[in-house]
Amino acid sequence: MSVLRVRGGEMLRGVIPIHGAKNSALPILAATLLSCGRCVICGCPDIADVRAAGEILRHLGCEVERVGTSLIVDSTGAKAAEIPPELMGKMRASLGFFGATLSRFGWGRLCAPGGCRLGARPVNYHVAALSALGAEWSQTDSELRCNWEFRVGGDLTLPFPSVGATETVLLAAVSVPAVVTLHGAAREPEIADLCGFLTAMGAEISGVGTSDLTVRGGKRLHGAVWRVLPDRMETASYLAAAAAAGGDVTLTETDPTLLAPVLETLRKAGCRIDTETKKIRLVSDGNLRGVGTVTTAPYPGFPTDAQAPVMAALLRAKGESVFCETVFPDRFSHVPELRRFGAEIALHGRTATVTGVERLSACEAAATDLRGGMAALIAALCADGVSTLRNIAVLDRGYENWVENFRLLGADVQRTEE
Ligand code: UD1
Repeated sequence: MSVLRVRGGEMLRGVIPIHGAKNSALPILAATLLSCGRCVICGCPDIADVRAAGEILRHLGCEVERVGTSLIVDSTGAKAAEIPPELMGKMRASLGFFGATLSRFGWGRLCAPGGCRLGARPVNYHVAALSALGAEWSQTDSELRCNWEFRVGGDLTLPFPSVGATETVLLAAVSVPAVVTLHGAAREPEIADLCGFLTAMGAEISGVGTSDLTVRGGKRLHGAVWRVLPDRMETASYLAAAAAAGGDVTLTETDPTLLAPVLETLRKAGCRIDTETKKIRLVSDGNLRGVGTVTTAPYPGFPTDAQAPVMAALLRAKGESVFCETVFPDRFSHVPELRRFGAEIALHGRTATVTGVERLSACEAAATDLRGGMAALIAALCADGVSTLRNIAVLDRGYENWVENFRLLGADVQRTEE
């Protein structure tokens, strides 16, 4: 098991370039399956989830090669195949690969996708939307089989703007020889990025960036070159760390317009934040104040993925900060871990109330999931003494070079394998 020892108390200073977004790269890699050609995905982060995506594509018969920061995928020779449960179980985004195989080959098998445990993560929206497009299902104990012989268009409405279900519909709809309109679609920037890539491949999609997407499908898709948009969650995480520990950190190759509510919250906490087109500089003396209520919501609201890191940043803030989680109501597995550092957090249903404490103390804690792990790391950076964080390999799923980056910023962190 990978363990991180963190000596708290160092301020963070320096410049860090932000990578391409995990949540964009993964559905885009799934979409490469539909091209029957060669795609170059630039700025594709070298993280465990992307490596898992590469394994799935290779399993399906694609050629996958990393050249610097790009991933080149040739799906000419892809064949209809089942995605084995051990690959499917590695991440939630494997659902996109199921959608893409269904789109290309007309059948697929769905066993439980992996990903962070954020409470129940059902797939009913995906199943209902595909059924509306003509998919037929049969179920065994451990899997759903899907046949999609007769593809039909139509008007679909999602009950909640699910990111994954919107991606599934897009990946499927481009192969339907009719018009598919999706109402209530997610508006996350990663959706627009996927639409951009599909359009570069020859698809026809309108309403991009809105909650009503229309796909005129059935076009022959070809290979394309695409640059993945910057990772707003990686950006938010480093900002939260710098806000909490104090210091002066500049993030480059990012896009401040993608995370306005996070910047607003950190400013409210007392940080100075200056932005340029691709750059964010945060200056903090580490003495923050409570921010009142932060409610997570689908884009353009406060992102649920930033809830844990920003909560960790406010553990020592003067006053109260209330986190109301509306996207994944149970997304609080980091709370017991943060309490180990001496944090005062009251949990009632989907609301966590943080009352700032003067000091945090070093402890042993675990990374419960990707963003929860970042939260524990942020707490450790501010705690007195040396903390031990377990299960930290989970951070490799979404943060490229994170240990080196924190070292570069001046953090006293050491990773060992035990
Ligand atoms: C994606 C992101 C994740 C982010 C989340 C919300 C990826 C790989 N992951 O996850 O980092 O936190 O969006 O921004 O891009 N739901 C259902 N039935 C379904 C599908 C979803 O009830 O069939 C519910 C979920 O349980 C959750 C809500 O809808 O409560 C939102 O989930 P969704 O937007 O689908 O998240 P993911 O796509 O899984």
